[in-house]
Amino acid sequence: KLTHSLSTIESEASLFQLKASYLGKSGVMQQYNEQLKNLKPEEKKEFGQKLNILKQVISGLFEEKLQAIVQQEINQKLSQSAYDTSLRAEFIRAKRHQGGYHPLTLVKREMEDLFYAMGFSILDGPFVEDEFHNFTALNIPADHPARDMQDTFWFSDKIHCLRTHASPIEIRAMQDLTPPFKFIAPAKVFRNEEIDASHEAAFHQIEGMVIDKNIGVQHMLYFLNTLVQEILGKETKTRLRSGFFPFVEPGFELDVSCHLCHGAGCSFCKDSGWIEFCGCGLTHPNVLIAGGLDPSEWSGFAFGLGWDRFAMIRYGIEDIRHIQGADLRFSTQFRSY
Ligand code: PHE
Repeated sequence: KLTHSLSTIESEASLFQLKASYLGKSGVMQQYNEQLKNLKPEEKKEFGQKLNILKQVISGLFEEKLQAIVQQEINQKLSQSAYDTSLRAEFIRAKRHQGGYHPLTLVKREMEDLFYAMGFSILDGPFVEDEFHNFTALNIPADHPARDMQDTFWFSDKIHCLRTHASPIEIRAMQDLTPPFKFIAPAKVFRNEEIDASHEAAFHQIEGMVIDKNIGVQHMLYFLNTLVQEILGKETKTRLRSGFFPFVEPGFELDVSCHLCHGAGCSFCKDSGWIEFCGCGLTHPNVLIAGGLDPSEWSGFAFGLGWDRFAMIRYGIEDIRHIQGADLRFSTQFRSY
């Protein structure tokens, strides 16, 4: 009878009620205890032992049922919880937005890691430059036609401008550091340009400079070859063409072999197999003097590369407008790097 009653019970409260009717003060067991008094002494012992065993069995059954009810309540709470602890991790991750690093940041970090390992410092300078650092000290005097090479945003005082290139950082470095020194400088620069697939009014350059004794073109080529082979691939070739920049003499343009099509022809090398990579050359004596260095003692080389273009050819991005477009469909493609 008891096992049947127990099987119909679902709550702790009704379990305790049933338990009282068996083991409580006016329960069934108590009635047996009272019968005990009326028995003969020899019967008492046997009946008493039987009663004890019965009591233990009944208590055990109630304890068992109590455990079952408690466990059932826990299961029920868990199934109503806001957390589905059985949900698979992939499902949760897919629903959460995951960011990525911008390709400009990625190539900058590659450049910084490489050059830092070769003993270079990482420098920057102000966006708003003065005429001296942006032009005059770089051997571009006020009346020189080379000023027209870079369409400039001038401030109304006609002395300050937004820096048109990263090269003014060369002058600041020469003024601030004790030679010998070497640095690279990733920098945002500004030009008053028509915007199209390869031109933005605000874009980015990375300048590099080494100042030491007896620097020659071979030193410059060593570092530039290391740069392109480490970042674009070991098989990447370079070639120098002569190029004019007032602050270097001799001046060059460095091309790299197209690592995207390997000469088969593509939009990045305009089917020529070569991509213009950077301007470079040996630092002009006038620039050393403007930076406070004696050209009979010190020499140097410098290079300036288009950081946006570098990111574009590094990752095969066709349009510079993607770089600054802030379109998440673009930037999240780089999350795996
Ligand atoms: N500053 C030059 C430019 O903006 C690039 C350059 C840097 C060329 C250093 C030579 C040496 O075009």
